[in-house]
Amino acid sequence: MSRTFLMVKPDGVERRLVGEILSRLERKMLRVTAMKLTRVSRDTAHAHYEEHRDKPFFGDLVAFITRGAVVAMVVEGPQAVETVRSLMGATNPIAAPPGTIRGDFGIEITENLVHGSDSEASAEREISLYFTADELAGPTS
Ligand code: RTP
Ligand code: MG
Repeated sequence: MSRTFLMVKPDGVERRLVGEILSRLERKMLRVTAMKLTRVSRDTAHAHYEEHRDKPFFGDLVAFITRGAVVAMVVEGPQAVETVRSLMGATNPIAAPPGTIRGDFGIEITENLVHGSDSEASAEREISLYFTADELAGPTS
């Protein structure tokens, strides 16, 4: 078992696709162990996407990710990083096959509905960026 970080981006929340995305995770037998509706600050956006700081699309990406509510989740399951990335589909929704989240609902590269960590190290870094230790401890602790 491992865990990853998944975020429904502002376009996914605006388009009322949170339930659809959650349903796909659950159908795949993944477990959501923490979840919240939140807003990404400019500072958090910069920290989250720091690897893309020098890319031409960075400004658009930060403006997009901070424009509205997002749903942040910790998702657990076998090879969680790879499993979630495979449910998401390729970054560019035009290249993402039907049956994937981006392939079924996306048409534009910036507004591609979901974020999923790209490695276990990124997952741990991103989880601590969005969740406090108390939030991660869960309702039963
Ligand atoms: P993410 O980090 O959001 O899960 O997406 P990813 O790994 O599939 O793609 P990544 O290369 O990390 O890009 C991060 C996000 O930046 C936006 N993007 N825009 N206009 C462009 O050429 C472009 N390229 C990337 C997308 O929102 C992408 O998910
Ligand atoms: Mg990425």
